[in-house]
This record gives sequence, structure tokens and C-alpha cells, in this order.
Amino acid sequence: MKKIIIANFKMNPLTKKKAQELFKAYDIKTKHTVVLCPPFPFLEKGKNYILGAQNCFCRTEGPYTGAVSSKMLKDVGCKYILIGHSERRHIFGETNRIVNHKIKLCIKNKVKPVLCVGENAGEKRDVVLKKQLKEGLKDAQTKGIIIAYEPVFAIGTGKVCEIKDIINSFNLIKKIVPDAKVLYGGSVNSLNAKEILKVTDGILVGGASINKKEFLKIIK
Ligand code: 13P
Repeated sequence: MKKIIIANFKMNPLTKKKAQELFKAYDIKTKHTVVLCPPFPFLEKGKNYILGAQNCFCRTEGPYTGAVSSKMLKDVGCKYILIGHSERRHIFGETNRIVNHKIKLCIKNKVKPVLCVGENAGEKRDVVLKKQLKEGLKDAQTKGIIIAYEPVFAIGTGKVCEIKDIINSFNLIKKIVPDAKVLYGGSVNSLNAKEILKVTDGILVGGASINKKEFLKIIK
């Protein structure tokens, strides 16, 4: 079945040339919808993949030095924007309120937000997810929205979430936001991707997305 596979390159690779090598390798026909989210300076459209961005600012235009608007990202070809990634929340101090502003602006500017949610190790998953979804999606149109469940302990650690926990989170999110497509992210690689894709609408891939061999195995 056709799934959504999103590559979050994060702050990699370091040169445009290397980013272009990845674009070239990943610009292939596959049965899945493949979305590539490189760093801003390397955004480049392709024939077979969809372009996405890793973040945007919570205003559309104005005196906000260093900020990038969802409207600008739309203009250069982005169809999706990751919002509220745990690295944005923890390193850059993004709150659910900021996330909510960004979600609503993306929708207004006609780019699809991919809302990232997930608990830290030791936190109650249901409580955290309910709060992130309720506050992040307050007064927002949820039709066609994508939600990525990324438990923080699984990100970049090699400790993928257990399938039963992925299924439970998927069901909880669908119950709260029935319109959503729900993806999983956190230590996805070519060995576990197929099993995860069976129980979700797609995956959000970090580290493995900048490894050509790995990512090609995942999307093929
Ligand atoms: P890893 O795949 O490197 O664990 O990262 C997941 C992630 O944060 C994707 O957004």
C-alpha cells in the first residue's frame, strides 16, 4: 500500500554538492510518497520526490531577522513542513502555543503541516500526546493533517519503539484526530521500516535518510 515516507535530513549534509547527491539518488519512481526535508539552503525540487522543510517561523512576514516563512517555503516548492519536532521543542524552546501558531499559518499559506508529537522517557505517553495534540491543534483545521509520533527516547538512539506501543499511539492519535494520517519516527532503518509501515500510514526517517543505501532500501 502507498505510504508517506518523510526524510528529515536535520542539519546535514554540510555541502550543497552532497545534498544534491542525495536528491539525485532518491529521485526515483517508487510506490510510496517520498518527501525530502533538507536544510533551508539546499531546498531543491525533484521529479519523483516531494519537497518539504524542517521548520518555519510563526509569522508570515515582517521584521524577524533570520526567520523563514511558510509562505516563502511554499513559493520555493515545499508542500510539507515539519512542525514541533522534539529538537525544536527541546533545543529551541518551542511551546505548544508556538506550534499551534505555525500549524495554523501553514494551513493558511497552503502548505501541509506535519505535526510532531512524542513523550520523553519516563513521561506518561497518553497524557503528553493528548496535551500536545489538543494545544497544538487548537482551532486548526485538521482535514488532511499529518501527525508524526516520535517518542523522544527513540530519536537517534537506535532504540526503536516496540510495535505494540506504536500501534497504541497510532490508535490514540486517530481517536483524537480522526482525519489525521499518522506516521512513526525514531530510529527507523532499512531493517525495521517494513514492519512499522504495516501498522502506520508512514514513517519519518532521520539518520537513515542521509545514508544513501539505507534510505533507498526503505523507499524501494
Ligand atoms: P532518527 O531516525 O535519527 O532516530 O531521527 C528521527 C527523527 O527525529 C525524524 O524526525
